[in-house]
Order: sequence, then structure tokens, then C-alpha cells
Amino acid sequence: MKIGIIGAGNIGGNLGKHFAKAGHQVMFSSRHPEQLKHLVKAAGQNASAANIEEAAECGELILLAIPFGKVPATREKIGTLAGKILIDANNYYPQRDGAAFGKEMTEKRLLESEWTASYFTKASVLKAFNSISYVTLTERAFPETDKERLAIPFAGSDGRSIEVFKTLLNDIGFDGVHIGDLAATKAMQPNEKLYGTELPQAKLKDVVKKLYR
Ligand SMILES: NC(=O)c1ccc[n+]([C@@H]2O[C@H](COP(=O)([O-])OP(=O)(O)OC[C@H]3O[C@@H](n4cnc5c(N)ncnc54)[C@H](OP(=O)(O)O)[C@@H]3O)[C@@H](O)[C@H]2O)c1
Repeated sequence: MKIGIIGAGNIGGNLGKHFAKAGHQVMFSSRHPEQLKHLVKAAGQNASAANIEEAAECGELILLAIPFGKVPATREKIGTLAGKILIDANNYYPQRDGAAFGKEMTEKRLLESEWTASYFTKASVLKAFNSISYVTLTERAFPETDKERLAIPFAGSDGRSIEVFKTLLNDIGFDGVHIGDLAATKAMQPNEKLYGTELPQAKLKDVVKKLYR
């Protein structure tokens, strides 16, 4: 699969390396793509670097891993991502992103994932990877045994995208637990019940079942 990475930092850089290792074609992007040379080198032959617009254009699946508050300006550059799968890994931190976004989400009754999806109305948006530290994502990929596999909670409503994403997770050595559509993602937001969970699939499924029954 062709994967565009928007925000090649802790999350995007490390996941991109995993995706490339698993055989996917990864295009990292940055406002300064010339600074991504050693990331591309580390990711190997399946990786390249470009500007944000090119990565958005090239990817069938786009990983968005930038500061939450930069979504509106990024949307101006990359458009609606029509027909693509968008994985939203962002979290809202008022101290970093400004209080105005929090006020807007409260007024519009939007969760963080729904707010982001409102900018990309023609994409199939999945929320994933936001609830787990980049260190864990980096270190726990490609486990040697099935017993060591961790599960990642994710949300979204399109059946095909859900299957594509589960396969992608499996490719890099994680299991997925689908928790529902974006309306279910409050539990994935910072300091909520699924935030910071590092559990194997069966245990994460139990937690999710209790949360939503
Ligand atoms: N760190 C974690 O463990 C973790 C875990 C889960 C979720 N998250 C969330 O995931 C997102 C990314 O976190 P991170 O830790 O990977 O951050 P990071 O290492 O600081 O990387 C963020 C990336 O965003 C890009 N960026 C910064 N300002 C931008 C702008 N104005 N327009 C477009 N791109 C911009 C930067 O790319 P250039 O400067 O190269 O353009 C940078 O590579 C955040 O929303 C964070 O809250 C982080």
C-alpha cells in the first residue's frame, strides 16, 4: 500500500519506519523535506521524503501526526483527502494547541476525532495510535512471539477501511480492537479510560466491552 505520512516526528517517523519494513511504500513529509534524509535512510528502500502536499496526494492511506492546532492550516494545503483513508493520531493539549479549539469543540459538541474529521469530510477517518506512546509503538512492533503482541484501540465507521487498517496493524506486529465509530472516541482522548492502555487483544476487548455495554 502507498502510505503518506504527514508529520514525520515521534509518531509518524517511527510508524513510517515500521510500515516500510513491512513492505509498504512510505512517503514521509515535512515542511522541510530536505531534513528527512536520515529518516529515509533508516527506513530503507521503501521510503522517500517529499513535501506535505505530495505525500497527501501519493498516499492511499494517510497518517496524520501533527500538533492538533495545525490541522486547519494543513487542511488548506492538502484538501479533503477524498477517497483516502485518514488515520488521525493527534491529541488535543490546550497548553500546546491553545484553549480556543477546546471551546470550539465544546460549543459544537465534537470530540477531537470528530473535529478533525470535520476538516476531511471526503476521507474515511479512523482514530488510532493517539492513545499509546510513541516509545511503545516503536519498541513493541514486530514482537518475536504472539504472546508479546499488544492491541491498539481504534475507531471509525467504514468497513473496508477498518479491514485495511487491521491488516496494516498486523503487518507491523500489533492487533487491533475496533471500539466503534468516531462518536466512541471520548475514551481514547488524553486521560480517559483507553488512553495509555498497553494490553493484549483479549484484555483490551474486555475493557472495551465493559466501557460500552
Ligand atoms: N509523542 C507521543 O508519544 C504521542 C502519542 C500519541 C499521540 N501523539 C500525538 O500525535 C501528534 C504528533 O506527535 P509527535 O510526538 O509525533 O510530535 P512531533 O515529534 O513534534 O512531530 C510533529 C510533526 O508535526 C509537524 N508539524 C509541526 N508543525 C506543523 C505545522 N504547522 N504544519 C504541518 N506540520 C507540522 C512537524 O514536521 P516538520 O516540522 O518537519 O514540518 C513534526 O514532524 C500530536 O498531536 C501528539 O499529541 C503523540
